[in-house]
Amino acid sequence: MMLLECFIFAVMTVLMTGAQCEETEVFAEAGSQAVLPCKCSPSSPYPSNIIWTKDKKGTVWRKEKGGMQFWASSLSKENQRVRCPHSQFERGDYSLQINSVRKEDGGRYTCMVDYGGQVTANVVILRIMEVSISSLVPVWGNDVTITCNVTPGLHGAAFQWMLNNSPFMSRPGIVFNSNGVESVVREKATARLTGNWTCVMGYKDKEWQASAALTVKGIIHPSKDNTKVYAAVGSAVTLPCVFSPGLTPSNTLWEKLKPESIFRLAPGHLSASFSPSSPSSQFPLDKSASLKEVGFEDEGRYRCSGTVEGQRLTRDMQLVVAKIDSRITSKERGAMTLTCQLSDSSDVTDYEWVHVVYDLNGTQSFGSVQKGKTLRISKMSEENQGEWACRFYGTEGILGNVTSHIQLMSGLSGQKSSSPSHNTAAVVGLSLLLLVLLLVLVKMCKNHQRRKRIFQYPALETIVHTTSNEREERERKREKK
Ligand SMILES: *[C@@H]1O[C@H](CO)[C@@H](O)[C@H](O)[C@H]1NC(C)=O
Ligand SMILES: *[C@@H]1O[C@H](CO)[C@@H](O)[C@H](O)[C@H]1NC(C)=O
Repeated sequence: MMLLECFIFAVMTVLMTGAQCEETEVFAEAGSQAVLPCKCSPSSPYPSNIIWTKDKKGTVWRKEKGGMQFWASSLSKENQRVRCPHSQFERGDYSLQINSVRKEDGGRYTCMVDYGGQVTANVVILRIMEVSISSLVPVWGNDVTITCNVTPGLHGAAFQWMLNNSPFMSRPGIVFNSNGVESVVREKATARLTGNWTCVMGYKDKEWQASAALTVKGIIHPSKDNTKVYAAVGSAVTLPCVFSPGLTPSNTLWEKLKPESIFRLAPGHLSASFSPSSPSSQFPLDKSASLKEVGFEDEGRYRCSGTVEGQRLTRDMQLVVAKIDSRITSKERGAMTLTCQLSDSSDVTDYEWVHVVYDLNGTQSFGSVQKGKTLRISKMSEENQGEWACRFYGTEGILGNVTSHIQLMSGLSGQKSSSPSHNTAAVVGLSLLLLVLLLVLVKMCKNHQRRKRIFQYPALETIVHTTSNEREERERKREKK
């Protein structure tokens, strides 16, 4: 943890040179170790008593001539946060170390070294600098306040803020208050507030800093609105919508936004293959939806929303559908063109075509790669048979791919020459269905034979009668009597 690191930036601003009652100012970030200097010249005799006191209120730490050490009761209980290392005594250094400093530790300390009647006193003012956040995990949209202050307070300090190591400037809509004593940033929580907040305080030509991490909760995946999700026609796709851990979103809803009503939010039509997430106890934060088989008409904007702590959180995303258009350019020579089509190609910078080859084991391998949105091939040629995939790239790498299956041109027709690869899946599905039907038939036949056998045992046969039948029969018998 950052706070546990011995992040010492306690600095002596005034070097003590045996002078008495001079003030030293030490700054320490809350949680770090503070070193309060108290140095005498090494040539001094070994002192009989060393006493550190705070705010004239009492002893923090004391060492007597015999070597006995005493701690203030409040500090000794807490694993002796205060130490005065012996090893440094020979060098005339009686500096006090305070670990994991807190706001309450800020104040005026006095070190008194007693050389048998001759007392040297050093005064050290310890100032604790702290960045605090109103709520450690604010929910998206709620107000969040980040405060930087120093205890005891200073006047005339200048504050600056850094977010993830870059200066955080005042912007409209952000309350930004610095009054020389503390600095406050108040804003609506959004993803851009997530990160490490560092407060840099300038005072007397020096700078000190303190930081705190802020995580804004909400929909973490996708992290930005208008994220594009790419899918090939016929494939399955997941529209992500994952909430931060610790949230319990309610009334989650998926909508398709009509293109012409982005601002009016009229719900569009969700296709039949669209299935919102099933309530799963294993992943209660995952509200992702899926489309089993994407159609080109499924492209468009989708919105996932849910209520968290009274706040309606939404995330818009865009489904971009890719397909391959094929066109015969010359029937005689079997020349054709394949064009990679995307419902929104605004983020696509590059297209490439690759021939997908399968070996006898069914292992996929890729053949030659050709650049460009359109591919011209001759389907007469044997080596062009099979699958062709169009890969499309954005500035940050591959966005997706879509495949097309080229079959040997039959002698009769050349119209429906290219079929999307999912047709092969349909064929496989159909054969599976036939197989299942066959199995069912066999099973039925077997059942029939068994029934015949059961017939020989009337006792077993009666089991199939329903209770109502039995009752009827009993009644009939009673009537006969
Ligand atoms: C097919 O798999 C077998 C065993 O896994 C391997 O020995 C053989 O080389 C593979 N053939 C091809 C064409 O990759
Ligand atoms: C297309 O994408 C799928 C899934 O990412 C991948 O498995 C496949 O290898 C890709 N095909 C090509 C030709 O790049």
